[in-house]
Amino acid sequence: MSIQRQKIADLVDRRASAALGGGRERIDAQHRKGKMTARERLSLLLDEGSFEEFDMFVQHRCTNFGMERQHFDGDGVVTGQGTISGRLVYVFAQDFTVNGGSLSKTMSEKICKVMDMAVRNGAPVIGLNDSGGARIQEGIDALAGYGEIFERNILASGVIPQISGVFGPCAGGAVYSPALTDFTLMVRDSSYMVLTGPGVVRQVTGETVSQEDLGGASVHASKSGVAHFAADDEREGIAMIKELLSFLPQNNLSLAPELPTEDPVGRTDDALDEIIPDSPNKAYDMHAVIGSIVDDGRFFEVHKEFARNIIVGFAHLGGQSVGIVANQPSVLAGVLDINASRKAARFVRFCDAFNIPLVTLVDVPGFLCGTQQEYGAIITNGAKLLYAYGEATVPKVTVTLRKSYGGAHIVMSCKQLRGDINYAWPSAGIAVMGADGAVEVLYGKELKEEADPERRAAIAEARKKEYDDLFCNPYQAAQKGYIEDIIEPRNTRFRVIRALEALKGKRQEMPAKKHDNLPL
Ligand code: HXC
Repeated sequence: MSIQRQKIADLVDRRASAALGGGRERIDAQHRKGKMTARERLSLLLDEGSFEEFDMFVQHRCTNFGMERQHFDGDGVVTGQGTISGRLVYVFAQDFTVNGGSLSKTMSEKICKVMDMAVRNGAPVIGLNDSGGARIQEGIDALAGYGEIFERNILASGVIPQISGVFGPCAGGAVYSPALTDFTLMVRDSSYMVLTGPGVVRQVTGETVSQEDLGGASVHASKSGVAHFAADDEREGIAMIKELLSFLPQNNLSLAPELPTEDPVGRTDDALDEIIPDSPNKAYDMHAVIGSIVDDGRFFEVHKEFARNIIVGFAHLGGQSVGIVANQPSVLAGVLDINASRKAARFVRFCDAFNIPLVTLVDVPGFLCGTQQEYGAIITNGAKLLYAYGEATVPKVTVTLRKSYGGAHIVMSCKQLRGDINYAWPSAGIAVMGADGAVEVLYGKELKEEADPERRAAIAEARKKEYDDLFCNPYQAAQKGYIEDIIEPRNTRFRVIRALEALKGKRQEMPAKKHDNLPL
């Protein structure tokens, strides 16, 4: 064999050995836990044969605690570029088989390199996390590594989409990079996100809690909202990341890809003419409305289990990718509370940063009141959503289905927050508050003075009817030009698509400023 051939054979061997990460035994241990390796995850995520790996031979430089005798090519992360459905993405996947995926300085350099490339070349970055946090043996160098990654997460925010998959235990610094990205996906029963594990929690606070109850996927997907998606297994998680990407543009200067559809733009749906119950206090499922109007009934919901009183997610309308925000009357009557406001505000800001038009479906009785909400700063949190809609310059199309009361009316993409096209169904009521509340405020004294309960009830009914007739309809708003039109529910799909078509050329500038001061 020639010397050159020998060197090529050596390279092939070295690559094969690097691809084993922390070695066969640790790979088997990973599999026994029902987890895939970093490379297996990437091969599922990326188009076949598209992965271009970088820095496969990088090694850590730590000389503490015997680390100088323990080297693995590539260290604890696999990085590179590839394509998903033919579109360029940059990726990193932490390798738990190498020191538990714990972050060394060299690992951070590898991750930062692909993040820099992603920003320079305008492509999304996807991180698959599975890490014990800062590599303890490296001390301050590992912390510096996290700092470098976080700074890049921050600078890339709003420039390229950043998606985090959490595929194993993620502790300490390992959770803050996902928290800075646009979307975080977790896997049920095998991934955890905690600042400090149950042992430390017990030591510090005396509280005994399992890993799952402290930072499992169901906790973060339903209680804290840290996770936008919870998958049943890693395969489903990776499929969800790919689907999410199909709604997003490559960067803030491009548009999301159009998805051609056989679903006719002019399709009407008679069922929508029957969906609003006669009683204003009766609920219906807003998912049915969304499913009826979007292309092929396909809705990709974000934060499905968190703050279910508001629905957010992606769909296509006439082939165009859109962000949908909708109150959900069947959960807490669709009221806006702290979590619903936070959830929707973050989604609206994401869509605005990435040129994704917003379609808002309104049926909101108001903000949730009470000490719990006030102490938790519903004022500041509600203002987040108000701010997000008000600053958004993407096309904004709003349809009011039923209730749109008070502050919540203003917040939910009203005309005065630079809504482009605002429609209402004939069942809409746009008012300061509902009839019950209004009659109590305006006529409470008069009603109290009426001793006869029957007469009192009759007066209250008459006052409510008077109020309903005057305010609980869309005509007052239409007369004043606060909505563009009152539309028949069955026509909602094509009216919204027509509005979005017309808004494709929308241009709206913001006043020059260093940055805003969003109420945080
Ligand atoms: C170095 C680590 C490590 C770490 C795990 N390992 N975490 N090595 N630094 N942070 C190593 C283990 O020693 C072990 O090595 C291998 O990875 C697998 O770990 P196991 O514990 O055997 O696995 P498992 O039982 O699955 O538990 C995983 C784990 C646990 C839950 C992640 O290892 C753990 O709790 N690690 C520490 C988590 C933590 O407190 N991190 C915070 C760091 S401080 P061998 O050789 O035996 O295979 C931090 C601050 C940054 O991140 C703050 C920035 C804001």
